[in-house]
Amino acid sequence: MSKLTLAPLPYAYDALEPWIDEQTMRIHHDKHHQAYLDNLLKAINGTEFENVAPEKLLASLAEVPEKIRSAVRNHGGGYVNHNLFWEIMAPGAGGAPSGDLAAALGTQFGGFDSFKQKFSAAAAGQFGSGWAWLVVKRDGTLGLYGLPNQDNPISNGDQAILGLDVWEHAYYLKYQNRRAEYIESWWNVVNWKRVDELYRRAKK
Ligand SMILES: [Fe+2]
Repeated sequence: MSKLTLAPLPYAYDALEPWIDEQTMRIHHDKHHQAYLDNLLKAINGTEFENVAPEKLLASLAEVPEKIRSAVRNHGGGYVNHNLFWEIMAPGAGGAPSGDLAAALGTQFGGFDSFKQKFSAAAAGQFGSGWAWLVVKRDGTLGLYGLPNQDNPISNGDQAILGLDVWEHAYYLKYQNRRAEYIESWWNVVNWKRVDELYRRAKK
């Protein structure tokens, strides 16, 4: 049996108000995230992969048997992606990063505002369900792109340090079809302290 569990949110359900509403956080964490975990467990329990970290499975999907590959990709991805999503947000956060990450964003994207614009554009332009990602590539440089569904950058060999969920379940209750407004609001809850930690860890 796999030992994976759903960690509670690191803050209260209403902590990200008014940017992300309590009901959305409750359903998103307790129902959607839980369902990704449950379905991942259904796929891997009783197999030789039940004690393999889902990140490891996502990093080498080709080695996962075809029978459970889609489940691992979609539900394992959903489980891992949301684990990151909760921790890169925090109440009273937002603003701009500092330190090494700020410097790298400046060099690679022409400054923080320009990065923000490009990241928002990737999130807004993701057709249908998916995520916008800021990643650290194997050579230590940053990358920015959108991916469909629950695909995680680790399947491309990249380490995600910031992800924005643009599935409708992430914003529809409060923002309905106004994805751009959700994206704009989301910047107010980005936990740059944590993103910077993830950046420095990924660079090692
Ligand atoms: Fe989600």
